Amino acid sequence: MTDTVLSIRNLTAFYGDFQALFGVDLTLQRGQALAIIGANGAGKSTLMRAITGILPSPAEAILLNDRPIGALSAPEVLEVGISMVPEGRRLFPSLTVEENILIGAHSRTGNGYWTLEAIYDLFPILKERRHNPGTALSGGQQQMVAIGRALMSNPDVLLCDEISLGLAPVIIRDIYASFPRIRESGASVIVVEQDIGQALKVADHVCCMMEGRITLSGAPEELSRDAIHDAYFGVSA
Ligand SMILES: Nc1ncnc2c1ncn2[C@@H]1O[C@H](COP(=O)(O)OP(=O)(O)O)[C@@H](O)[C@H]1O
Ligand SMILES: [Mg+2]
Repeated sequence: MTDTVLSIRNLTAFYGDFQALFGVDLTLQRGQALAIIGANGAGKSTLMRAITGILPSPAEAILLNDRPIGALSAPEVLEVGISMVPEGRRLFPSLTVEENILIGAHSRTGNGYWTLEAIYDLFPILKERRHNPGTALSGGQQQMVAIGRALMSNPDVLLCDEISLGLAPVIIRDIYASFPRIRESGASVIVVEQDIGQALKVADHVCCMMEGRITLSGAPEELSRDAIHDAYFGVSA
């Protein structure tokens, strides 16, 4: 096994006739936090949907631990070790906090790091609220439930799609404060963010997308503000 946990090669994606991804290449190193930034409509969520098997891909376009997984279904991708905190959180309104978290455990077995108690230790407020309906919580607490649910499968790769969207800065800080623990558990992380500052803060490596392509890639300290601006918004004439 190499140090690469997830490798994407020349990935394309379509919605009917509309092409949303054009030959995306991307590498996630083991233990790394990779941020994907880009404006609304750049293709970030589409990339997440392709990785998680919601959108079909050629088998060899996506490798997890050197194994081709592009052709797997969404439940199979979860079983092999990739889980996602989806954009918009998507909790089950009729279930309690605890039930929403436990749903994530049905996808993958094994003696992993993450248990219900470990999730409550990560986000103590969820233990207090465990019998409340998931949707009766604040946005930030709902996001914690969504993260807990995704961790319950003990993923090798955790994908987080715009987890800070619509949350107050202090809540965003609390949520990102859980990331060191998540990485200690052995998960490598991809965060999708529209907020460039937030992405640069949490990531070891940043990829910028525009119109279905990766337009810039590098370590945060290597990337100039101008280069990021051009890759994010396009070079203005
Ligand atoms: N279900 C869909 N059907 C058709 N087009 C879609 C669908 N979802 C997204 N798109 C289009 O694909 C492009 C990329 O969208 P998306 O991946 O959601 O961008 P981002 O997450 O970066 O905001 C956009 O042009 C968007 O309109
Ligand atoms: Mg999106």
